Amino acid sequence: MSSDAQVQQSNEAWGSRLGLILAMAGNAVGLGNFLRFPGQAAANGGGSFMITYFIAFLLLGIPLMWIEWGIGRNGGRFRKGHIPGMFAAIWKHPAAKYFGVVGLVIPLVVLIYYVVLISWTLAFTWFSITGDYWGNTTQETMSAYLTSFQVIGDGTAHDFWVPFVFFFISLFLTIWILSRGISAGIEKLAIVGMPLLFVFAVVLAVRVFFLPAGPDGSTALQGFEFIFKPDLSRLGDVNVWLASAGQIFFTLSVGMGTLQCYASYLSTRDDIALSGVATAATNETAEVVLGGSIAIPAAVTFFGVAGAMTVAQSGSFNLGFVAMPIVFQGMPFGQFFGALWFGLLFIAGLTSSVAMATPIVAFFREEFGVRREVVAWTVGAIALAFGVLTILWFEYGFLWEWDYWAGTFGLAVMAFFEVILFMWIFKPENAWRSLHLGADIRIPAVFRFVMTFVTPLYLGIVLLWWLFTQAIPILTLKGGAAAGGAIAPGAEMYVHLSRLLIVGFIVFFLVMIRMAWKRNGYDDRAGFREIEDTPLGRTVA
Ligand code: TRP
Repeated sequence: MSSDAQVQQSNEAWGSRLGLILAMAGNAVGLGNFLRFPGQAAANGGGSFMITYFIAFLLLGIPLMWIEWGIGRNGGRFRKGHIPGMFAAIWKHPAAKYFGVVGLVIPLVVLIYYVVLISWTLAFTWFSITGDYWGNTTQETMSAYLTSFQVIGDGTAHDFWVPFVFFFISLFLTIWILSRGISAGIEKLAIVGMPLLFVFAVVLAVRVFFLPAGPDGSTALQGFEFIFKPDLSRLGDVNVWLASAGQIFFTLSVGMGTLQCYASYLSTRDDIALSGVATAATNETAEVVLGGSIAIPAAVTFFGVAGAMTVAQSGSFNLGFVAMPIVFQGMPFGQFFGALWFGLLFIAGLTSSVAMATPIVAFFREEFGVRREVVAWTVGAIALAFGVLTILWFEYGFLWEWDYWAGTFGLAVMAFFEVILFMWIFKPENAWRSLHLGADIRIPAVFRFVMTFVTPLYLGIVLLWWLFTQAIPILTLKGGAAAGGAIAPGAEMYVHLSRLLIVGFIVFFLVMIRMAWKRNGYDDRAGFREIEDTPLGRTVA
């Protein structure tokens, strides 16, 4: 009765190659590109950060991109769109599936707080259209305006229910699109959203370029110089290296299980070598060229280089939510450009948030036969409950705690498992053959060496360093909070609670994985049966 053939049905597939690339790019291009990148670059010394960032892109980013596409498509041969199944498909060991738990917990946790973040961008789109923040033209008053939105019950500029309304709308849109599936939901959104996003970004970058010099004579050009002029002075600072590695992970969406899930709907006739690098290149264009040309140069014209750095260091999103609104207030048609900026962020965020729960949908569909819509709305209900807590407890650092453990540390842990699995357990020969099935291009041979030796070593060092300099101090509450500052008085309980919840999710998914394997009678040592065909015409290898 419990033969795996019965549950392994799926009617998902990509509609077109362009749609796939746009959806992959939509997945990767998000708040990370336009908010987190400028914030990190400004806070970590501009030109120095860019050097370490580029090295991380070459040695971690591109290799992991290919590894994840490879793991994903390989999983698809057995109709596995989720990480536990993909790991088990490569490593025929009973433990493999349990390591895969990270690929279910991380996306769930990140989804919850990411939707909260994109709801801020939706809110600020609205506040730009209505001119609600007009009049807050200094860093102090604009920061206070932002805080009154983030911290519930402050009540100076917003009623307490305002953030919740924008959160409900953002979550509803995310889940509704997700529930429509891969081609009718996610791909359609990307086909409409991505070109729009690029147009918005180009218009803003051009507008910023022509900004008049600010009060102290600073120009946008000085902003560009700050990022793009190579600077070796901070290369000895380990934190700059860690920050750039973290940014590469976050912006490329590696280490979460979603790129792999997207790739699992491809066949061995698709070129994943080329598509993988095309996705990475699109993301980097959006990040370095467009993301680098908006927030930092704009902030620099207004605050000067040193001032912009201070704003960036005062909070991850302050460049986007404090500095930018001040700049808009000083320009003609500021409300229009403000709406364009926050609208851009919202579109970028939405095409990412719809990706996040796809591994969970795949897991429950494929292993338990639950309908996609049912999984989607259930995930939505869970995200609603915990998202409300995230908003209520924002002031205690609840959101940043999740961002640290799941959205930063967790990604590197997962990536580490993946490199070991794909390059060492699967073996470089097989990895290489698998990556090149259906490919028109050859990946340069040097990457085989990089992916086998350099990437795992680099990752191992980053992880150990994080563990000793940050994770353990944060864990023991000795080194302050994950948000970077000291733990707010009375916040310990919430910090513990946010971690306990992650542990709870881990336990829950471990149990579900065990149940799935029992229910479907999988034999860990024998591996899964290959599926015969997919809508794209997969051939049995
Ligand atoms: N890359 C996204 C951004 O830049 C964030 C992100 C990280 C993400 N992991 C993801 C998005 C997984 C979708 C799926 O904002």
